[in-house]
Amino acid sequence: MKKLALAVLVALPCAAAAWLAGCAPSRDALPAFYASRPVFEQPFAGQRVPKGLKSLSAAECGTCHVAIYREWRQSVHAQAWADPQFRAELAKQPGVSWLCINCHTPLVNQLDSLVVRLEGDDVERPVKRANPSYDAALRDEAITCASCHVRDGAVEGPFGGTKAPHATRRNPALRSAEFCLRCHQAVQAYPGKTFVCTFDTGNEWKAGPFAAAGTVCQDCHMPPVERALVEGGPVRRVGMHGWIGSHLRKGSETNLALWDSLAASRPPGVELRADSLVRVGAGGAVEWSVRVVNANAGHMLPTGDPERAVIVTLAAIGAGGDTLAREQVRFGQKWEWWPAPKKLADERLAPGAERMITLCLRAPRGPWRLAATAVNERISDANADFHRLPESYPRRVEVARIEARPRP
Ligand code: HEC
Ligand code: HEC
Ligand code: HEC
Ligand code: HEC
Ligand code: HEC
Repeated sequence: MKKLALAVLVALPCAAAAWLAGCAPSRDALPAFYASRPVFEQPFAGQRVPKGLKSLSAAECGTCHVAIYREWRQSVHAQAWADPQFRAELAKQPGVSWLCINCHTPLVNQLDSLVVRLEGDDVERPVKRANPSYDAALRDEAITCASCHVRDGAVEGPFGGTKAPHATRRNPALRSAEFCLRCHQAVQAYPGKTFVCTFDTGNEWKAGPFAAAGTVCQDCHMPPVERALVEGGPVRRVGMHGWIGSHLRKGSETNLALWDSLAASRPPGVELRADSLVRVGAGGAVEWSVRVVNANAGHMLPTGDPERAVIVTLAAIGAGGDTLAREQVRFGQKWEWWPAPKKLADERLAPGAERMITLCLRAPRGPWRLAATAVNERISDANADFHRLPESYPRRVEVARIEARPRP
């Protein structure tokens, strides 16, 4: 009897919840588990196709929003699932993949399975169930149009009230940094694990001058152009959808000319400044100082993934192209991953900050020159080899170069 009473007591809240919702809990509902996790470990709610459209697919949006679709297709957001490094990491740590996909393929409709609980409270031992609303083609589109624009059966946009053949709703949040920070701000330690979440771009931006001046992520990463949303439509202020950040390609872009033009329209974060003529001192002593400035990024440089770096090299080059002297500084973070993740050093540049690098040498006989380069690096060769990444996965790109010669 006692036992039965207890069972009823326990069952009651569940029955009440189902009654409040107006029907029995559906298999489509997001498991209650996610509500117990930090927001960035939760997927975006599942979406239904807005009135006037046949699917949630970017390809369908692209039949009308041609220019935006083309830009998005070249962007890292469109490649966040295909990314070879992402896939290599998922394959190595399948237990934790449920967590990664909430940002890389964010809609519930893009997840093949959903987590109902963690075995022994271990993030690497999820207990999953199949997801009946899973759409594999939509998963492949990664951070797709619908991930950012479709909510509650409508396409959300910054205007509202446009004459669209689909349901629309105005969402002013699209022009706020918070919209981006849902995925770009996530700091979390996992005790006992060899991984951490350390995307701090939001706090870096808030601490710098751009947040105070009201310059948001979109102003730099979705620069405005005047054009129509659809062919023949009214000209409006439109944010470009290329999200150029590090100027590093991913490797599965389909229109390199377009990617190049998007990249060329955005400045790199770093600027190198120095005199282009250097004085040769007594006994041929030469000192060349280059200022490395975070001139254009609204946050630390580099930001985001802790493996990223900006590598600045100063070199004196002889007549035959041989290097006579060299000085190299790596701006980035240093982490130790075993036995537990620990940040050892943080040599990044805050917005506006600068560091001086000086190269000293004795001038050789004959002609010589000085060159300084800045290279954005995504991943070291050692780590790329560890993940067996293909050669076609770009690891670094030169973003700035200056030269100097002896003063005649
Ligand atoms: C659903 C999660 C999500 C949202 C929302 C999101 N991003 Fe991203 N973003 C990502 C992921 C994941 C990547 C990395 C993809 C990869 O490298 O495979 C990324 C990469 C980037 C990059 C790096 C580009 C590069 O070349 O290195 C920039 C810049 C960027 N996002 C800007 C933005 C801006 C601006 C917004 C807001 C308008 C935004 N993101 C909203 C998840 C998101
Ligand atoms: C059949 C053509 C067509 C398709 C398909 C289509 N759109 Fe549109 N969309 C339009 C037109 C037309 C407008 C209004 C243009 C204007 O007034 O400038 C519009 C407006 C918009 C707006 C602005 C809404 C506002 O009022 O702020 C957004 C955002 C948008 N569409 C996104 C999408 C997305 C995302 C998809 C795919 C899920 C999509 N559209 C599919 C034609 C289409
Ligand atoms: C990472 C999130 C994200 C993705 C993915 C995304 N958009 Fe947008 N979209 C935005 C934001 C943010 C704005 C507002 C930009 C602004 O006006 O400054 C916007 C604006 C728009 C607008 C209104 C014009 C404008 O720029 O204000 C249209 C139309 C649109 N998007 C269509 C699309 C289509 C079509 C796709 C897929 C091919 C897509 N978007 C993918 C975030 C996204
Ligand atoms: C003042 C302009 C500006 C603002 C504001 C800004 N960024 Fe950036 N961002 C840049 C520049 C410049 C780069 C570096 C490009 C390069 O060096 O190739 C960059 C790089 C990035 C990268 C790639 C990682 C890297 O280190 O290269 C990501 C991700 C990113 N930004 C996200 C964001 C997010 C999210 C916000 C909003 C909180 C934001 N950015 C605000 C200008 C800006
Ligand atoms: C909170 C959202 C979020 C989660 C969760 C997340 N990522 Fe990302 N991921 C991002 C963003 C944002 C970027 C781009 C940031 C940058 O490099 O500046 C990114 C970039 C990447 C990249 C490309 C790095 C580069 O330099 O181009 C890889 C690989 C990656 N993530 C793997 C993973 C793995 C593996 C997991 C799970 C352990 C994971 N991510 C979980 C948001 C997320």
